Amino acid sequence: MENLNELAKRGALEGGGNRRLAMSDEDGAGRDYVVSRMKALGLKVVIDRVGNVVATRPGRMDGPPVMTGSHVDTVGTGGIYDGALGVLAGLEVVETLNDHDVATDHPIAVAFFSNEEGVRFTPDMMGSQVFAGTVGVPEALDAIGFDGTRYGDELERIGYAGDAECGVREVRSFLELHIEQGPVLDSSGIDIGVVEGVQGLSWTEWSLEGVANHAGTTPMEARHDAGYGAAEITSFARRMAREMGGRQVATVGVIDLHPNLINVVAETARVTVDLRNTDDLALADAETRMTEFVKEMATEEGLKYSRRTLARFAPVPFAPPMVDLIEAKARGRGSSTHRMPSGAGHDAQMLAAICPTAMIFVPSRDGISHNVNEFTEPRQIEAGANVLLDAMLELSGADSTVLDGP
Ligand code: GLV
Ligand code: MN
Ligand code: MN
Repeated sequence: MENLNELAKRGALEGGGNRRLAMSDEDGAGRDYVVSRMKALGLKVVIDRVGNVVATRPGRMDGPPVMTGSHVDTVGTGGIYDGALGVLAGLEVVETLNDHDVATDHPIAVAFFSNEEGVRFTPDMMGSQVFAGTVGVPEALDAIGFDGTRYGDELERIGYAGDAECGVREVRSFLELHIEQGPVLDSSGIDIGVVEGVQGLSWTEWSLEGVANHAGTTPMEARHDAGYGAAEITSFARRMAREMGGRQVATVGVIDLHPNLINVVAETARVTVDLRNTDDLALADAETRMTEFVKEMATEEGLKYSRRTLARFAPVPFAPPMVDLIEAKARGRGSSTHRMPSGAGHDAQMLAAICPTAMIFVPSRDGISHNVNEFTEPRQIEAGANVLLDAMLELSGADSTVLDGP
């Protein structure tokens, strides 16, 4: 908890919460703090070319590590747990092994991956995608942020352009502890979410172009109003998700109007649409419905339109033996468990492409996240960290039972 509160001082917002946008000064300060903790624990720290940081504790054997980790970047109005918890809990596991002189057969690694949130540079989970080999290094370095900056330049500026090659390291297995960021565990009073997989995600940016004109003189039927188009997309997204039902969710998080003035019909709009579903066919259906809607609506209003895919991931199932292991370790500690999909995207879903992977969820009070009021109780965090510890002990072939909990 001390470490979480200490990291939260980097990029602290007035009144609580964090803003550590990827590759900002604040992200750099958060990274420096975590790296100093890694070094203090005697770990060997390696930084790769996109800024992923991997800290390793040797095992009795060489070879691929049992890895855990998450991210330290946040959304612009984030809480102090999203990402940070998974990284610092990994370091807590290492500290516990050090304190108790526990040796493991396989090395243990704690990582944090660059630009998980994807709010400044897209796609999200960028660092873990490069690590897993699904996005190339040049593509990541050349990403342009919403503020016009280049990822690679910002990475260098904050001192995290490492020289280690990406995506060539083998990983024995990967675990990520994370807050649920939804209401399921909190509302049912369950201690531990056993995550079976991550739902699919589709991020699209729509650009609409109409005609700027006078708000008082332009007859309603003569308007080509990009602001109206943005509003129509927003309400269609809601209507469509409600109609489709199941696990379909839809969000318009950005509407950027130009010139954005009270008495001018908007000339252009940039609208982001975030669609997610555990069922990939249903997700594809939602994408098609949205595209057809925009085509029809734009034609009727006389708007030009174009679309850009910012991110697209199919649902990812986690390895059943790893999922079973998490469930067994949680129950072994007397925690109540619930099997569930993850609604949020996570680095673990990218690691799942290269090694057996699973995630552990702890409750989020009132299901609030991507919000400065995000909160998880210390005892719930402790329960999650103990599951992480027990699973890592087993996966790494630890030689000791001195850490068996009550
Ligand atoms: C990442 O945090 C996402 O699920 O948007
Ligand atoms: Mn996260
Ligand atoms: Mn997040």
